[in-house]
Amino acid sequence: MELLKAENIKKVAVVGAGLMGSQIAEVLSRIGKYRVSVTDVSDEFINKGLASIQQRLDQFFVAKGKMTPEEKKEITGRIEGTTDLTKAVSDADFVIEAVTESMAIKKDVFRKLDADAPPQAILASNTSWLNITEMASVTKRPDKVAGMHFFNPVAVMKLVEVVKGANTSDNTVEVTYALARILEKEPVVCRDVSFGFLANRAYVAMTSEAVQMVWERVASPEDIDKALKLGYNLPVGPLELSDRIGAWAIRAASEEDRIKELGSEKGQLHPLIRLMVRAGYTGGPGKKGIYDFWKEVLSKW
Ligand SMILES: NC(=O)c1ccc[n+]([C@@H]2O[C@H](COP(=O)([O-])OP(=O)(O)OC[C@H]3O[C@@H](n4cnc5c(N)ncnc54)[C@H](O)[C@@H]3O)[C@@H](O)[C@H]2O)c1
Repeated sequence: MELLKAENIKKVAVVGAGLMGSQIAEVLSRIGKYRVSVTDVSDEFINKGLASIQQRLDQFFVAKGKMTPEEKKEITGRIEGTTDLTKAVSDADFVIEAVTESMAIKKDVFRKLDADAPPQAILASNTSWLNITEMASVTKRPDKVAGMHFFNPVAVMKLVEVVKGANTSDNTVEVTYALARILEKEPVVCRDVSFGFLANRAYVAMTSEAVQMVWERVASPEDIDKALKLGYNLPVGPLELSDRIGAWAIRAASEEDRIKELGSEKGQLHPLIRLMVRAGYTGGPGKKGIYDFWKEVLSKW
């Protein structure tokens, strides 16, 4: 079987039309080289994903005079939304899976991708945390499975982590890396022995230390974030960012995955995060997080 070369990619199939899948489809289409499909479980999710692409292109490009309405039409015209996964991947050279972050769901999707995509096609996952080797194990082509981890917002963030599973071939890594470069990203390569790959693993460690400092009442969340922002030139502090994205709830929910991946020691959720989540301070849009927990509970406790 002939190995895929990045310059021969003509069609990219994105699976999952949510926050990340829709943005990845948009970035792929904007390059102008590829036919792009985006699939999801229902028309409702697909329409929502396609509408979000229209909205972002209008807001960030057309309204600012950076794109004509005709160019926008061409970009959206290259993206086909469908619930028919078999059809979407049957002529795809490269597949990017961006479905819900669950190993069971991802394995199910990878089984289907392996059955329906051409044998030479590369199957990449945008997973943030999950193990690529395990996903690849349900396919007959583990050499052609890799991580391709984009960051949100995809159009702005330069980093792409190319993740090498135990059986991922050098060619798969090279093509995935090259595709990231074509998309004007800055890829890095890592092995999938690390939970959270590179950036998330280190960021979580920093956030955990910040959480521990709150727990010890070393300082307020505000001052800890201020120190990190000014000391390391970060645009936003890790505690504020975690509050914004609802990271406390995500970390509580992924505790089991962490235990499985890293062993019980590193899998232990910090008692402050557990306490906050139990008290409803999960973070996320419109919800209270560690800043509120400090003010309303911890500083008085
Ligand atoms: N949100 C982020 O900031 C971020 C950043 C980087 C990577 N990721 C990763 O990207 C992936 C997607 O995350 P998201 O934030 O876009 O989630 P999301 O919930 O916005 O989107 C996931 C989509 O997958 C769909 N889906 C579920 N099962 C499916 C199936 N069997 N077939 C097709 N579609 C299916 C859902 O209907 C949903 O529309 C996850 O693996 C996540 O860890 C997320």
